[in-house]
Amino acid sequence: MRKIIFGNWKMNPLSLSEALKIAKATDFKNVVICPPFPFLIPVKNHLRKAGLGAQDIFWGGLPTGGGAYTGEVSGVMLKKSGASFVIIGHSERRRVLGETDEIINKKIKVALAAGLRVVLCIGEPAEVRKKGETAAKIFVKSQLTKDLKNILGRRVRAQNLIVAYEPVWAISTSRDPKLTETPEMIVQMIRFIKNLLGSKFKVQGSRILYGGSVTAENIERIIKHKEIDGALVGGASLKPVEFKKIIQIAKKNG
Ligand code: 13P
Repeated sequence: MRKIIFGNWKMNPLSLSEALKIAKATDFKNVVICPPFPFLIPVKNHLRKAGLGAQDIFWGGLPTGGGAYTGEVSGVMLKKSGASFVIIGHSERRRVLGETDEIINKKIKVALAAGLRVVLCIGEPAEVRKKGETAAKIFVKSQLTKDLKNILGRRVRAQNLIVAYEPVWAISTSRDPKLTETPEMIVQMIRFIKNLLGSKFKVQGSRILYGGSVTAENIERIIKHKEIDGALVGGASLKPVEFKKIIQIAKKNG
């Protein structure tokens, strides 16, 4: 299985012209670009090789994909805009917008029903990691259990569920200076998630990504491990030269 690199642009860049410039420069196979909503369609129109992902989805609405929900965007709309993937449960949404596991669970259900492939983000906060590896695993297991409640019995195909392990303390914007991620730590947790998905949730073969301050400088040490199926890149995905290096290194290690 080829390694896959996701670029999560978050609430950037500020103009369409910049968005198109970044998208064109990083349009490669096994890459998925996740721009903010207003740029989805124009970016899609400029991509030849990379896939397109959205950064969020609304959990409700009519089966047709519409409804009176001011400010929200449905899975049907995302599909029609050319997105194949959707990021759900990012720690920034959990932390800043108060998104709960129950909301995330609903979002995963509507995304799968709309035919989108889900990138479910999970990961422990700093105060949990400081208690040790076992505490981090218990936290992640609890997130997965709640986020995937009543979903996997529906025979979700492994390719439609990607999990991104993003420890909150390793994300560039919420870094804890007292903690340092190591490839061993990441591999341990990703193995744990894969085993859980297989044994508890009966999904074999889902891709598990790593995310958190991935750069051109550290990607090789991470991605060379066979357990790690790719990366969810934030800040560095907005810098075309660096993101291209990340893509090349992932390809070499694929
Ligand atoms: P950074 O790569 O900027 O740390 O962001 C990671 C992330 O949150 C990707 O979803």
